[in-house]
Amino acid sequence: MIHKDFRHFGNACSFRPGSPNTAFTNLFANAIRHMPEAAGVLTVSLDYLEREPAPMLQIRVRDNGSGIDEKDLPFIFDRFFTGETARSPRKSGRGLGLGLSICQEIIASHGGSICVESKRGEGTEFHFTIPIATRPTAVSES
Ligand SMILES: Nc1ncnc2c1ncn2[C@@H]1O[C@H](COP(=O)(O)OP(=O)(O)OP(=O)(O)O)[C@@H](O)[C@H]1O
Ligand SMILES: [Mg+2]
Repeated sequence: MIHKDFRHFGNACSFRPGSPNTAFTNLFANAIRHMPEAAGVLTVSLDYLEREPAPMLQIRVRDNGSGIDEKDLPFIFDRFFTGETARSPRKSGRGLGLGLSICQEIIASHGGSICVESKRGEGTEFHFTIPIATRPTAVSES
């Protein structure tokens, strides 16, 4: 199930050239991989932040999956980090540990930044900011 919370956005936002779509794809793929198949809930929210020199879009991608061990959190943006150890080796079909490092590079190249909050057994939220070229039009709440 996917929830979208785009209430404050009446129009599409335009990013600088070189779209951050790959970052979205990587975050969605991770969330899907770590959520229970039947009861997985992915929530995507957008918030507008007034910032100088450019307004920012804050995007949050939250899942109710396995969560990440606290000891692993400082390393998940490192290249080839998958959280697996010799005692719990990589399962087939799992990734190479590159997605989040690529996300971080793409987002930084757009002038934004990415953070994570997670609790084992409860889920994970990635939030990142991206400067936007066009201010979104607020939707009037009637
Ligand atoms: N939403 C998430 N829930 C739980 N763990 C996650 C989540 N996102 C990332 N992780 C953990 O962080 C690690 C690094 O993620 P990253 O996307 O860089 O690599 P990957 O998904 O293992 O492989 P790749 O993206 O190259 O296919 C993952 O292996 C996983 O242990
Ligand atoms: Mg990945």
